[in-house]
Amino acid sequence: MTILLIGATGKVGRRVAARLDDLGVPTRQAGRKSAPPFDWTDDATWPAVLDGARTAFVVPYDAAPVTRPFIDTAIGSGVERIVLLSGRGVDVPDYLPAHLMEDNAHIDGEAALRSAAVDWTILRPGWFAQNFSEGFFRDAVLAGDLRLPAGDGAASFVDVDDIAAVAVAALTDDRHVGQTYELSGPRALTMTEVAAEISAATGRDVRYTRLEHDDLVRELVDEGWPEADADVYASLIGPIRRGIDAYLSDGVERALGRPARDFRDVVRDAAAAGAWS
Ligand SMILES: NC(=O)c1ccc[n+]([C@@H]2O[C@H](COP(=O)([O-])OP(=O)(O)OC[C@H]3O[C@@H](n4cnc5c(N)ncnc54)[C@H](OP(=O)(O)O)[C@@H]3O)[C@@H](O)[C@H]2O)c1
Repeated sequence: MTILLIGATGKVGRRVAARLDDLGVPTRQAGRKSAPPFDWTDDATWPAVLDGARTAFVVPYDAAPVTRPFIDTAIGSGVERIVLLSGRGVDVPDYLPAHLMEDNAHIDGEAALRSAAVDWTILRPGWFAQNFSEGFFRDAVLAGDLRLPAGDGAASFVDVDDIAAVAVAALTDDRHVGQTYELSGPRALTMTEVAAEISAATGRDVRYTRLEHDDLVRELVDEGWPEADADVYASLIGPIRRGIDAYLSDGVERALGRPARDFRDVVRDAAAAGAWS
């Protein structure tokens, strides 16, 4: 029973792959550099990775709503179970500015999966704790200054290992079919608290500087970002500033029967693993 992993090289996918490997479950890890290759932007690459797969984990392509045609192709190829990574906020109408809610890959992908003739589970994580150690905030941590338009808002950062554990449960256990799991950590932290936790775990001096949305856009444009991309990035922080990402979700507990891991533990483990060395 080989499980197809789309997005297998990313933060979530590689943890799902490792957990399935530990369980002795064979995987086909698909990406632009795999053999055969898989590219979201080239549907001619899809059938080869789907061939023979009955179960798939899908990390979608955020830049375009292509999950729907992929699901259709997958079902046509014989896939019977899909576990889809989505995100919290997809069901909150003003979570992001209107132009970012239109043609949104997660919103369209969820709708496509819910109406598809396939067993499905949807994972809706909030902000990843590992954004600070592996993702788009890592450089700011290394520079000692988290410069973000997050105001004094908080987010209930989730451990990506918890997301992967829920994904593996859903891929391997029928009890999770038809479930939508919203996933968060056990407490919300402001960026000031995040900086303090990382400083304590690493011995680095990391601070938080409150920016306005337009200030961050200007700084990123000065670094060479296209203005539209900088605006999208800054807009993603808006829900933290507005306090709508601070709530706690019970998906980890519901799916796994244990509490979600705390940001402090994630940061301690990342520091021990040399994430900021
Ligand atoms: N970061 C957060 O706080 C957060 C919160 C909630 C939801 N999410 C969602 O989580 C997802 C990101 O997951 P992640 O952090 O695990 O991803 P990631 O670390 O950014 O990795 C991206 C993955 O997508 C693959 N990929 C990128 N472009 C591709 C293409 N054109 N064709 C095929 N594969 C492609 C990459 O594979 P190759 O490079 O090997 O091709 C890689 O495996 C997004 O959908 C995001 O919206 C993120």
